[in-house]
Amino acid sequence: MKLMSVDILPGGNALELGWEDESRSRYHALWLRDNALDDETRSPANGQRLISVLDLPTDSHLTDATISGDGALVVTIAPEMKELSFPGSWLKHHRYDGVKPRSAGYVDPAMDTWDAHLQNQVPTAIWDDIRQSDTALCRWLADIRRYGVAKLTGVPTTSGALCDVAETFGYVRETNYGRWFEVRSEVNPSNLAYTNLGLQAHTDNPYRDPVPTLQLLNCLENSVEGGDSIVVDGFSIALKLKSENPAGFDLLSRYRAEFEYAGANDVQLSASKPMIDVSSEGEITAISFNNRSAAPLVKVPFDEMEAYYDAYRCFAKLVEDESTQVSFRLAPGELFIVDNTRVLHARRAFSGSGTRWLQGCYADKDGLLSKLRVLEKRPGH
Ligand code: FE2
Repeated sequence: MKLMSVDILPGGNALELGWEDESRSRYHALWLRDNALDDETRSPANGQRLISVLDLPTDSHLTDATISGDGALVVTIAPEMKELSFPGSWLKHHRYDGVKPRSAGYVDPAMDTWDAHLQNQVPTAIWDDIRQSDTALCRWLADIRRYGVAKLTGVPTTSGALCDVAETFGYVRETNYGRWFEVRSEVNPSNLAYTNLGLQAHTDNPYRDPVPTLQLLNCLENSVEGGDSIVVDGFSIALKLKSENPAGFDLLSRYRAEFEYAGANDVQLSASKPMIDVSSEGEITAISFNNRSAAPLVKVPFDEMEAYYDAYRCFAKLVEDESTQVSFRLAPGELFIVDNTRVLHARRAFSGSGTRWLQGCYADKDGLLSKLRVLEKRPGH
């Protein structure tokens, strides 16, 4: 969008830009100085900042501001009398004027929340396609960013193949369960996941800090009765709770719950986090919900404990409500990935006859989002 006008505001500590669409946005002199794009402020090699906040003159102010022939903003900032240029597109992308404080409990607008209507519409890609085509990979990763869940078909049913999938966009997160772990019935299992019991919808490993932010589950064999996979959008549940029971939403986001895992002799994992994590600006950023690893609550005040349990029960009922659930049966060669900070997964119980063998591994969203942004920046995208 074209930059049409610039006015230095009285006192010179800020300026106001007028855009082609008649919107206006203000920028502080101090902010412009800090974000200078010149080679003395940013490394030309890697773009990293060469100055610290202590290098910024506290009395930075604008003495001149014009729009150049190519639509860039050119300013002079005293007392350094530094002449700096900012492309209009850069300024538009980084505008901060107009950010309004919001009440707690909203979701990143880049995400689409969902419920059972996503049944039969879970984003799906084919392994050979995402391996061979950046366009297909980009689309699959963008779907994971938007929905927090996606499937992949045509994945090899060889042991460890799911790590190759994780490596298309990032790195496997190794844990005490190994680089990957086997999800099948075991005698004396170290985790209830390794039985034929049904598992309530949960996020994985809330007893870690930081928690693994992605989980992949690949199906190698599945000839049992039952054992369907279920996914639930935890952000959608949190929004529902907020609208139906705002006090309950407040309790689950205000107090940290305890989670722990000590199912093997050499492991004693423990972490505290709110079941609904809300950022200081009010954005819902993570869900932690796992009955198997929930430890005694010790951070909820005595007077609020019963109300907290009511809110916890409300959240769990919404999770168990079929109207919020999407279910599918994984066939050999099918994998699903979830954003483990957002989407809960569950498994229905299965019968003892036949075999059900899944492999799971963890990875992290930072790598996935980085890869996605790189692909999105490529020409022709
Ligand atoms: Fe799990």
